[in-house]
Amino acid sequence: MSGLISPHGGTLVNRVVDNATATKLQGEASSLKRIDLSAKQSCDLEMIGIGAFSPLTGFMGKADFESVCKSMKLASGDIWPIPILLSVDSSKAPKVGERVALYAPNGVLQGVMTVKETFAHDKKLEIPNVFATSDEAHPGVAQVMAEGDTCIAGPVDVVTVCVDPKGPEAFLEFRQTPAQTRAEFEKRGWKTVGAFQTRNPIHRAHEYLCKCTQEICDGLLIHPLVGETKKGDIPAATRMDCYQVLIEKYFVKDRTHLSVMPAAMRYAGPREAILHALVRKNYGCTHFIVGRDHAGVGNYYGTYDAQNIFDGLDAKNLGIRPLKFEHAAWCKLCEGMTSSKTCPHGGEHKIFLSGTKVREMLAAGQRPPMEFSRPEVADALMSWAKSPA
Ligand code: ADX
Repeated sequence: MSGLISPHGGTLVNRVVDNATATKLQGEASSLKRIDLSAKQSCDLEMIGIGAFSPLTGFMGKADFESVCKSMKLASGDIWPIPILLSVDSSKAPKVGERVALYAPNGVLQGVMTVKETFAHDKKLEIPNVFATSDEAHPGVAQVMAEGDTCIAGPVDVVTVCVDPKGPEAFLEFRQTPAQTRAEFEKRGWKTVGAFQTRNPIHRAHEYLCKCTQEICDGLLIHPLVGETKKGDIPAATRMDCYQVLIEKYFVKDRTHLSVMPAAMRYAGPREAILHALVRKNYGCTHFIVGRDHAGVGNYYGTYDAQNIFDGLDAKNLGIRPLKFEHAAWCKLCEGMTSSKTCPHGGEHKIFLSGTKVREMLAAGQRPPMEFSRPEVADALMSWAKSPA
């Protein structure tokens, strides 16, 4: 496959069936045991189907689960930091060999799976290893705690890729599979592509990271996560308005590509940074931006834990290169974006604003300052804050 970076495990998976097979599976589904997926499971199924989770072809079995928890590797030896499980209530667990129909939260048939294995969901193994905490106030921990006690594993056939194509978060124009972003990069002649993962509107520090990356790589993939996020995060539809206006006014179009990633957030900090990087390798990217407290929440992780975790990995197997950035902020003396690597001035000259602080400002009807948000982004956020979705 071309001169682009190899997908993780060597082969780009595609578990989305063709139309004729989809019609057949839709017919079969009514006679199968029904499994109602959570939002996270539904996102995971889409990610597996389109090959974003290559080399996974289905939900993980016990050997992969244990190996991932204990040593951040699949049983094959390939790096993988977070279990991708389908757990159900034990009372509803199907038998090995049974075929089951997987329904999205909105009731759409999303896929069919042949159960190859069932095993106990060992949350005591998963939670402390993946999240480095067992505190149920952590949104990712709470999510796992709410899941079923029996995991069912096996290859999946995806019948419906985008389960709500008319919904506010479908973004069909921007919803590209890894095969499609790879084709896009080839068309543009990009050999090196830096990926920017985000679950927030792009503020000035994000923009700085993106533009530094554009100095290094042929192209930049702005790749917002639009799957399930926690309550309180700014909705993807508002974020997309911000990304589009920002790219339109402040980015070089020939070197910037916007596409969405339908994954769910887990807020697992360091381990999730690795997952985010591997997935972007599958989308065809060679470099991956990791800034301060990547995929973190609250104070569970150190500012640079998500960068340091990459140091212990086999760089060859990882394939994609992390681009590590210091905490960036506007400096009033430098009159620009800076970090401690580039600016000698103290914190009293810096404008540090967290996402939480900005949400508080918006709720109070205050406009984020230009040193934090571009005015067009501030406008989009202010209008969302007036009638939050
Ligand atoms: S995340 O959950 O996707 O990591 P967010 O959208 O806020 O959250 O961050 C996107 C990327 O920008 C992450 O790599 C994060 O580490 C980085 N980042 C966010 N704010 C800053 C900042 N002020 N300085 C440096 N990196 C940052």
